[in-house]
Amino acid sequence: MIDVMSMTLSNIVAGCWRMAEWGWTPAQRLAWIEACIERGATSFDHADIYGGYAVEALFGEALALKPALREQMQLVSKCGIKLVSDARPAHRIKSYDCSREHIIASVENSLKVLRTDRLDLLLLHRPDALLDADEVAEAFDMLRRAGKVLSFGVSNYTPSQFELLNAATPLVTNQIELHPLERAPLHDGTLDQAQRLKARPMIWSPLAGGRLFTDTGAAATRVREALQAAAEAKGLTSVATAAYAWLLRHPSRPIPIVGSQRLAALDDALAALDWRMDAETWWGIWQAGAGHEVA
Ligand SMILES: NC(=O)c1ccc[n+]([C@@H]2O[C@H](COP(=O)([O-])OP(=O)(O)OC[C@H]3O[C@@H](n4cnc5c(N)ncnc54)[C@H](OP(=O)(O)O)[C@@H]3O)[C@@H](O)[C@H]2O)c1
Repeated sequence: MIDVMSMTLSNIVAGCWRMAEWGWTPAQRLAWIEACIERGATSFDHADIYGGYAVEALFGEALALKPALREQMQLVSKCGIKLVSDARPAHRIKSYDCSREHIIASVENSLKVLRTDRLDLLLLHRPDALLDADEVAEAFDMLRRAGKVLSFGVSNYTPSQFELLNAATPLVTNQIELHPLERAPLHDGTLDQAQRLKARPMIWSPLAGGRLFTDTGAAATRVREALQAAAEAKGLTSVATAAYAWLLRHPSRPIPIVGSQRLAALDDALAALDWRMDAETWWGIWQAGAGHEVA
């Protein structure tokens, strides 16, 4: 029997959002997938819309070169956003859709293009004001019974939106943005809820989409300096490792999703798993992001 109350993902997840921009051949994509797995990042984060509805197929094309790899990985995907795209000519405007029909059709397509028989985890990508919790629960139940999706969650949900759906069908995670420049989930109840429910949050853009390195604004500069100092005090050189250690320190046990194509960047994230940051360093980085000390 599948335990719908838990999910097993690697502690660092490989993000596939930007894969279409990498311009790689199928063999290069396969080599990257294998290298991630060898390093212990066995979970891959997708969405139907990534790359303008292209990324899942790019990944599936690589997986088809070595199908046995499927048993060594966990596949996460999302649905619920409808983009205006040549790939979906029926969409007139960008909108959300969490109807039973859309969820099931989107999953069927994800399975087809990823060339797999199951998703380990399906997330609703954005909160949808028209979401009917009972209808979503019905769709999830059909997918679960068919063995097509093993567990379910959401992304970018407020605590009350999570509560609404979680009362109708068990959710295992809320995938959210968190980094020293985006601290709201620490204080708005999102991570309190995750900790209470033991629903480990997945963290997107853990390096602020690269802004931690490139943004020349005052807050990003302060954060960079604080991360650099924390890394140096630990005898490390990587600002990114300090940024991951800051995330991993939270008691809700966050699971960061690495967005870089570079394996060295993945190694920076994996190195943080051994670092339990002391609280004063953690608050120093918080203070650098906030621009003021705690109350
Ligand atoms: N649920 C959602 O709504 C949502 C939204 C956004 C993303 N996501 C997921 O989260 C994943 C990660 O998001 P993200 O790509 O924004 O993550 P990120 O790790 O914060 O940003 C990655 C970007 O930072 C750049 N970067 C620059 N310097 C870097 C350095 N020293 N180390 C590492 N990266 C550096 C990377 O470029 P290089 O590749 O050149 O290193 C890459 O373009 C996505 O792949 C996707 O799976 C989910």
